Amino acid sequence: MYEALTSVSDMLSRNLDILCRQPLLVCGLLEDKLPQVLAEHGPAPRVFTTDYRYFQWLGSCAEITPEFGHAPAGKTAQGLLLLMPKAKAEAEYLLAACLPLLSTGAPVFIAGDNKGGVKSAPKLLAPYCAHVTKVDSARRASLYQAELTQPASPFNLSDWTKEYRLEQEQLTVCTLPGVFSAEHLDAGTQLLLNNAGTLQGRVLDFGCGAGVIGASLLKRNPAITLEQIDISALALEASRQTLARNGLQANLYPSDGLSETEGRFDCIISNPPFHAGLKTFYSTTETLLKEARHYLKPGGSLLLVANAFLPYPELIEQSFGGCETLAANGRFKIYRARA
Ligand SMILES: C[S@@+](CC[C@H](N)C(=O)[O-])C[C@H]1O[C@@H](n2cnc3c(N)ncnc32)[C@H](O)[C@@H]1O
Repeated sequence: MYEALTSVSDMLSRNLDILCRQPLLVCGLLEDKLPQVLAEHGPAPRVFTTDYRYFQWLGSCAEITPEFGHAPAGKTAQGLLLLMPKAKAEAEYLLAACLPLLSTGAPVFIAGDNKGGVKSAPKLLAPYCAHVTKVDSARRASLYQAELTQPASPFNLSDWTKEYRLEQEQLTVCTLPGVFSAEHLDAGTQLLLNNAGTLQGRVLDFGCGAGVIGASLLKRNPAITLEQIDISALALEASRQTLARNGLQANLYPSDGLSETEGRFDCIISNPPFHAGLKTFYSTTETLLKEARHYLKPGGSLLLVANAFLPYPELIEQSFGGCETLAANGRFKIYRARA
């Protein structure tokens, strides 16, 4: 028996008759086993996700082979279900990446939480579909349906890449929709970079986003060996472009927390995540604070920026036996702990 974890999935599970008429390409803010339910009631959907944690989790479901990346593979699809992501720009990006795989007349569905911007579905679909209908709405969730009116233009990643320049770092940062600090350097990251000092050896940029921390460190410390990880394929692609744009090199790979890293580091540096989906969510960072010590060489350091109100010093002290505050302003603090 399927227990929908969100009101969106709950609503979708009442609309299986229209959703299961064709194998759908499903993408966006996926949070539970809805794709498996679609597979049980009709043709198995194709699932494309930019979230490595969801990719790994769904991989254990029978009948579904999820795809992880910054854009779906080029195979054609018979319909699309987009679960509204938290950033509208990311929804526009996903539609542009997925709709070229559909033929004219194919169904396009957008579902989401009313608080998560799903009401913009008619506007989002206007460039592609003549008529958009709201087919269901309950418990703050809505489902919109449309038909692709004309073939969508081929997807071109470079149309979606934006750049900004950091003069102080002599760096050009490349970003993609939905990636953290897509328009400018985050003030917390800036404070972290101002206090990072000189680094050497093997350095991990944890939750690299557009890659700004790692790229800045490489510029200042060309002898370090840099690894960059993130859970988001869009962040990893933005980081890859930032490295290439600045003639820098690093080992870049998806990882949910430290799970995919190997060996020990001289430094783990991060502006760690504190939001996931629509809810505030700390557990990735709390796990990092608990586990980082085991991923550091003796004397290696964890270097972190966090909102000043977060109770991280206690957690760091519990794990490392000490926590230095290297800098603070009204909003952020920089913490360092040594293994
Ligand atoms: C606050 S942003 C910092 C981005 C970048 N380092 C900067 O300072 O601009 C945190 C990043 O952590 C990533 N992230 C979230 N959960 C993660 C997880 N479980 N494992 C790895 N990275 C994660 C997010 O995708 C996001 O890019």
